Parts: sequence; structure tokens; C-alpha cells
Amino acid sequence: MTRQPTPEDKFSFGLWTVGWTGADPFGTATRPALAPWDYAQRLAELGAWGITFHDNDVFPFDADDATKERIVRRLRQATDRAGLTIEMVTTNTFSHPVFKEGGLTANDRAIRRFGLRKILRAVDLAAQAGASTFVMWGGREGSEYDGSKDLYAALERYREGVDTVAAYIKEQAYDLRIALEPKPNEPRGDILLPTVGHALAFIAELEHDDIVGLNPETGHEQMANLNYTHALAQALWSGKLFHIDLNGQRGLKYDQDLVFGHGDLISAFFTVDLLENGFPAHPDGPRYTGPRHFDYKPSRTEHMTGVWESAKACISTYLTLTEKARTFRDDPRVQEAMTYSGLLELAQPTLGNDESITEFLTTDEDFDPNKAAERDFGFVRLQQLAIDHLLG
Ligand code: GCO
Ligand code: MN
Ligand code: MN
Repeated sequence: MTRQPTPEDKFSFGLWTVGWTGADPFGTATRPALAPWDYAQRLAELGAWGITFHDNDVFPFDADDATKERIVRRLRQATDRAGLTIEMVTTNTFSHPVFKEGGLTANDRAIRRFGLRKILRAVDLAAQAGASTFVMWGGREGSEYDGSKDLYAALERYREGVDTVAAYIKEQAYDLRIALEPKPNEPRGDILLPTVGHALAFIAELEHDDIVGLNPETGHEQMANLNYTHALAQALWSGKLFHIDLNGQRGLKYDQDLVFGHGDLISAFFTVDLLENGFPAHPDGPRYTGPRHFDYKPSRTEHMTGVWESAKACISTYLTLTEKARTFRDDPRVQEAMTYSGLLELAQPTLGNDESITEFLTTDEDFDPNKAAERDFGFVRLQQLAIDHLLG
């Protein structure tokens, strides 16, 4: 039996996840829409510690200030009463047709100015709600046709936009960090900042890179045929893993947003192993301490009971994998296999302490490449131990 979640687990859900009514490009809603506070209440009952939302998950696109304030106050009463943290807030710059050609990178300057203002107002909302992360997913920042956009200018405008948001956060002294969310495609044919690697390179060009990091999503990396755990690892290594979107994806297709673990389960095991146990050869290396945030969609075949079942499944699969990853790491056979494979030796710098390059080049090492090539690594045994723990 998997244990019950606690606030220390920091499980959180987007209101748009359980709140998805099942409307997709091919069909209308299959479930009713509840009020934001009703979703929040149910998530708290399931053991969630936090919730997240887009501005327009909570109030309509054209709501006036009084309406916005009234709705947000009501939501905050509900989250306070339920003991829920609003850990992240984000902006919807993709649903309204005005953003069909982009928000921060739209060719039309008036649209860019409108989009940037909407984002800055959402930053205020995030700060007021006590969130610590502001996610920026530029789903409409991209193109279908390579001839339709000056990509240099688009990247310039993207940088201007993100730097302006970051500068505003600093100006207002908000305790907030920005997390960019890469995605290769959908809804645009090609989205700017398609992968974690692209986003890291982009962040390095920012003026305010110190408060800008990443929100990598399982399915988004996998849609680009990339390894999510590797993406998390490189973001961690760069000190840029600010937030995560966990879900499931099965292969190269549309963004499935399945329940966590319902995609590539072996990959999910190693994702949890990294998040919970860190780098095996670097016990003091960087660790992710942020929310375990789920961004998935309860399949549109399900009634509301299935919606709650699916949220519960995300939590319980994560907790089960946590236990399995723990026993995996603690298993003496695993430690032995890790040592045998040389995995732990990789933490040792290649050059010696204070060894100069000249010294290095002139050292006569008794090294026989043919002999070294005979080495066995035993990775299959190590992997099978992971599978045994995962299944057993
Ligand atoms: C998607 C994205 C979004 C974002 C969300 C928060 O593929 O639709 O994952 O769900 O995570 O907009 O920025
Ligand atoms: Mn997604
Ligand atoms: Mn996401």
C-alpha cells in the first residue's frame, strides 16, 4: 500500500487539469465545468498541497477589475480554508483569437503590447496570491510557415518580453521567479524555445537571467523524442530547474497529457529517482526541492469520478515510484552494480588536482586502449535491477 500524501510532498495541480471539460479540436465538452474553488477543495481532499492556474482559468478574458477581484478573493478564501498554497500562476496568451499569431512575438506590435500588459497584470496576480513561480508557456509564439516570421526579430522580441517581465518583478520587489516552459509544437506548427536545451541557451542571452529558469514538462520533451530525465538533469546542473510539469506521453504524437506514469513508465521511474534521490555520484549535488506539479488531462471519456481518480493516480504513482526508487538505491546489489559500471567514478575530475595541461600531455601513463576496451560495464544488470524494483 502506498502511503498517504503529506504537505511535505508538495503535490500540486493546475486548475486547468482537473478543470478540463474534454473540449478538443474534434468535439465539444464531455463534462461539466465546476467553479475554481470546487476544484481546489477536491484537490485538497486528495492530498494536494498546492494549486496553480492561468489568469483566465479563474476569471474571464474580458472581466473588469471588480469582477477579477471578487473571484480571486473567493478562490483565496477557499484555498486558505483548505490549507492549499497557490504556488504558481501563469497567463493565458493562447486561447483568445487575438493571440493566433503570437503574444510576445506577434508580428503586430499592438498585439505584442497588449500581450505584454496582460502578462504583467498576471505577475501582479501571482504576487498577490503568494505564488513563488510565474510560468511562461508561449504556446502561440511560433509559426506554421518558415517564411512567415523574421526569426531573429522574433527571438529579439521574446527576449525583450521576458526581460521586461523579469525587470518588472524586480522593480516591484516581488518574491517571484519566472519559469519558461519549452514545447516543440502544438498549437503552433513550430513553437519558439522548443526544448529545454533551446530555452537554456535563450536564458543565457537575457539581462535578468538570474530569476529566469525552466518548467520542463514530461510530454513536451518526449514529443521531441528527447529524454525527460536528461532534460531535468541538465536544468538542475545549470541551476535552472525552477518548476516541473509531470504527465505521461506515449511516443511522438500530439501532446497527450496522460496521467503521470501512464506513458513511459521506466522513464517515469528514473525521473522520480532523480527528483527524490538526486545524482547517484553526487550526493551533495543540486536537488530539486520545488513542487511536484502535475499538468495532465483526465481523458474525456471519464465522468467526474474519473477526474478525481486520475488526480489520485498521479499522486499515488509518484509516491509508489518514490518508494521503489528508494529501495533501488538502497539495494546492495545496485550499489555493487553501480560501482562495477564505473558510474560513481565519473564524479572524479579527469585531470588531477593542480595538474597542468602540459604535465597532463607529457605524463607517460601505462594505458593500453585495447586492454581498456575489454572492460565490461554491466549496465544491463543494473537496468534489470531497476526493472525488478519497479515491478516487484
Ligand atoms: C500545454 C502546456 C500548458 C502549460 C500551461 C502553463 O501543452 O498546453 O503544457 O498546459 O503548462 O499553459 O503555462
Ligand atoms: Mn502540455
Ligand atoms: Mn505544461
